[in-house]
Amino acid sequence: MSHPDTSSLDQFKLTDQTAVVTGASRGIGKGIAIALAQAGADVVCASRNQDDIQQTASVISKLCHSRVLGVRCDVSRDVDRQNLIETTVKEFGSINILVNNAGGSRPNDPLKTSAEQFGHALNWNVVPAFDLTRLVAPIMKNTPPACVINISSAAARYRQKNFSAYGSAKAALSHLTRLLAQDFAPDIRVNGIEPGAIKTEALKKYLSAEKEIALIASTPLKRLGTVEDVGSVAVFLASPAAQWITGKIIELDGGVETPAW
Ligand SMILES: NC(=O)c1ccc[n+]([C@@H]2O[C@H](COP(=O)([O-])OP(=O)(O)OC[C@H]3O[C@@H](n4cnc5c(N)ncnc54)[C@H](OP(=O)(O)O)[C@@H]3O)[C@@H](O)[C@H]2O)c1
Repeated sequence: MSHPDTSSLDQFKLTDQTAVVTGASRGIGKGIAIALAQAGADVVCASRNQDDIQQTASVISKLCHSRVLGVRCDVSRDVDRQNLIETTVKEFGSINILVNNAGGSRPNDPLKTSAEQFGHALNWNVVPAFDLTRLVAPIMKNTPPACVINISSAAARYRQKNFSAYGSAKAALSHLTRLLAQDFAPDIRVNGIEPGAIKTEALKKYLSAEKEIALIASTPLKRLGTVEDVGSVAVFLASPAAQWITGKIIELDGGVETPAW
């Protein structure tokens, strides 16, 4: 046993750690930020709208004892990514956990998708995660423990129509996760989560009542996922309990192998 003097529950605590979560003003990112703060981490929440991210930060600080900061950051802008990291280090002194959550893309008919639109989906889901990891790595190496968690998608592995752009982009993000884990071991663990359907504002845009019923029927665990489901897995991956896990992707999908859209 590597921790004979602590209980197994202590292995899930994130006390004295600082986390940065992108796309944290709502949906999965907000759920992850709350879960990390509840586990004891100080949290920097980032998204494009200053008022929204401030509001999320105040909600979290009322819920938890952790320190919470909202930073306006469009992860697709170089200057904003740099500022996010610099601001976090200035305010909190270090970064132990980076959650690359901002991303997404609409379903696409390949015959109606231009090369530019396809390229945008690839770029937006992969490049900010790569660059933020590159920017935090030297800081993380000096202040262990350190981990990166990339929010990919079950679309990365499902064979389904109309997901060539999003599915390819998230498959690239999942494999980037495995590759960066090799580059940064043993100092920084790099893991990912591939959520199935999580009922956020983003998903609701594409979810009619009939589609939701079909999706639940095709899910072995008979419900859609929640942001709390993703938050719990993020806490586990960030925690000492996962200290021997790197380069892995958690399939968080209620058991779905073939979604019924
Ligand atoms: N929902 C699902 O079923 C599902 C399943 C699998 C994977 N995912 C993945 O989970 C992640 C979050 O999805 P979600 O459903 O929670 O989406 P969401 O509800 O639309 O939330 C997106 C969040 O990202 C922020 N955001 C958008 N563009 C941004 C940018 N350029 N820079 C920084 N922040 C930005 C938004 O705030 P602002 O607009 O204010 O910036 C918001 O806080 C995505 O990577 C998505 O692909 C979702």
